[in-house]
Amino acid sequence: MGSSGRWMLWTVCVCFTALQTAALRVAMRESSMEVVQGDFAILPCSFFTSTSTRLSRLNIIWTLAPFSSPETPIQVIVYDHGQVIEDPSLTGRVGFTGIPLSADIVLNDTRVSDAGIYRCMVNNPPETADPGIGELALTVLAPPSLPVCQWDGDIDMGGSVRLSCSVAEGIPTPEIRWDKLNPEEISLPINMDGDLSGSVQIVNVSSQTSGLYRCSAANVLGTENCYVNLSIYSPPDSSSGILQGVLLTLSMSLVLLALLVLILWLHRTGQDGRWKEGKGEEEECYNEIRYTPSLMKRSFV
Ligand SMILES: *[C@@H]1O[C@H](CO)[C@@H](O)[C@H](O)[C@H]1NC(C)=O
Ligand SMILES: *[C@@H]1O[C@H](CO)[C@@H](O)[C@H](O)[C@H]1NC(C)=O
Ligand SMILES: *[C@@H]1O[C@H](CO)[C@@H](O)[C@H](O)[C@H]1NC(C)=O
Repeated sequence: MGSSGRWMLWTVCVCFTALQTAALRVAMRESSMEVVQGDFAILPCSFFTSTSTRLSRLNIIWTLAPFSSPETPIQVIVYDHGQVIEDPSLTGRVGFTGIPLSADIVLNDTRVSDAGIYRCMVNNPPETADPGIGELALTVLAPPSLPVCQWDGDIDMGGSVRLSCSVAEGIPTPEIRWDKLNPEEISLPINMDGDLSGSVQIVNVSSQTSGLYRCSAANVLGTENCYVNLSIYSPPDSSSGILQGVLLTLSMSLVLLALLVLILWLHRTGQDGRWKEGKGEEEECYNEIRYTPSLMKRSFV
């Protein structure tokens, strides 16, 4: 039968494995874990040696390839010849929990930078290791940081305004949304600019555009908000604007006219004075004054 055949195959496999288990074997009880930033995590790593061997030459190395820089792994903690060595960046935060019976470690006060692929490597010479290595992915969750709200554009009637919002941190990636809060709460269409910032474009603004806007950044661990209070500047209505313009132009013209009259008058009195002074002046000056009246006459004809 098929089932008995499978049973025999299984038995053979078990026997074969039993022969092989003369070698040291490492097993991770989890392949991935999540921890909230600040909490502690126990990273499990079990190993099985053949019963007869002693553990005097047991060697355990935990490494971390951080998600932020996978190409530069660090040695988290090492157990060698009964001694424990921690990476300086983790001193005081990492430790073995059951050495030498288990290779589990505890990581206290977790940080986002602790996230990555952890590898547990166990050796117990002269035993061969097969496989002597286990792997575990650690995710460190963090609530969103306070988002930053900004606006730019033209807040005059008919202008266009852009509201933008960005959040620096948060794992999983926070969801960003914009809402207008008054007179009633409405959700606004958002354009994402990467994962961590989103903006809203408002065109042809009017007095109805004024109001309080909220950006929220949310993930499973929480929500943080920032706000923009928009006041649209509405100029006085256009008919009175035109009237003002006309009045302004009119008064400016009057002032200019008065100035012109004043200048002419000053010029005239100045001439009279100089005529009286006679030929005491320099030659150039005299000539200039002499020809001026005809020039003026011409320009006014
Ligand atoms: C981790 O924190 C626990 C509880 O605060 C403490 O008992 C333990 O010694 C700490 N472990 C390390 C390696 O710092
Ligand atoms: C802008 O809005 C005003 C009223 O709010 C409307 O009369 C006008 O047609 C709009 N202009 C455009 C270009 O949409
Ligand atoms: C928004 O601005 C307006 C006008 O400047 C002001 O009256 C209102 O109190 C502000 N609202 C908030 C929530 O700051």
